[in-house]
Amino acid sequence: MQDQINQYTLEIDEFAPANPAQLEEFRIKYLGTKGIVKDLFEQFKAVSPEEKRVLGKVLNQFKQLAEAKFNEYKEAFESESHSGGTDMDLTLPGEGYTVGSRHPLSLVRNEIIDIFKRLGFVVAEGPEIEDDWHNFSALNFPAEHPARDMQDTFFIKKDDGNDIALRTHTSSVQVRMMENGKPPFRAIMPGRVYRNEAISARAHCFFHQVEGLYIDENVSFSDLKQTLYHFVQELYGEGTKVRFRPSYFPFTEPSAEMDISCTICKGSGCNMCKYTGWVEILGCGMVDPNVLENCGIDSKKYTGFAFGMGIERIANLKWVIRDLRLFSENDTRFLKQFKTEII
Ligand code: PHE
Repeated sequence: MQDQINQYTLEIDEFAPANPAQLEEFRIKYLGTKGIVKDLFEQFKAVSPEEKRVLGKVLNQFKQLAEAKFNEYKEAFESESHSGGTDMDLTLPGEGYTVGSRHPLSLVRNEIIDIFKRLGFVVAEGPEIEDDWHNFSALNFPAEHPARDMQDTFFIKKDDGNDIALRTHTSSVQVRMMENGKPPFRAIMPGRVYRNEAISARAHCFFHQVEGLYIDENVSFSDLKQTLYHFVQELYGEGTKVRFRPSYFPFTEPSAEMDISCTICKGSGCNMCKYTGWVEILGCGMVDPNVLENCGIDSKKYTGFAFGMGIERIANLKWVIRDLRLFSENDTRFLKQFKTEII
């Protein structure tokens, strides 16, 4: 038995496992329930009492040796795997850290807001579910008047004059502002609006607007023109031309639509401007005195102008996005192209 132990001791001394699997083999061989240590202790029971005195000590030392060897490598392998040791492949490519980006419509909206903020305009917001008064009646749309058909409305509740609908423009926010405050007003109203249109590349059932309102004593059409002219120079660069065409809105008189020289072809004619050199970007006009009176403002003392533009349209002229649906489909292949600013 002494010889056997000597032989095993030698083996253990030389043993140096290269990986946890080899160490496990060692444990089973020496320290397992059917292992060598157990076996030697079994044999030990049968030796003579004189031999027991010597062998007992040897056997215990042998057992401790096997255990010490096992523990030594067990700890070594454990600390190795914690510090990213052998079983981690450091040549694999790392996992990318993707940073989100602003939605193109938010980028354009922020840019528009910044320009008007520098002119002293504040930002005003209001509800997307509106009553008939704020969306239509206060804005001088007579009941049953065909002008209401200009904006195909999603009605939530039809109730003879007290209809509830999804707002068709953010002009409703202008009404709320005038009703709840005192002139002068100088504000812009960004927000989502809804119209009952079949969804296609060129139309959607919702889109985004920025409208503006400026009311004070002696505000004239030339203030309107100068403000919007300045806005266009800031947004599209010096030298962008503007022109005003007479138009009609129930809430402004006179009313106009403003075109700018095509930002894509610079006026020489292209698909975007239908070869006219001009593209329409907004509606505007002097606030109709009826609207001022509806909102409790003295129309003899105060005048003002208003304008409204679609953010999708402005973004389209900036990046030539042919299909409106891209703005709301949340396809990251589209969205991640707009990494202009991350705030
Ligand atoms: N509310 C109009 C629209 O949605 C835009 C507009 C606002 C026109 C203010 C003139 C003045 O089309």
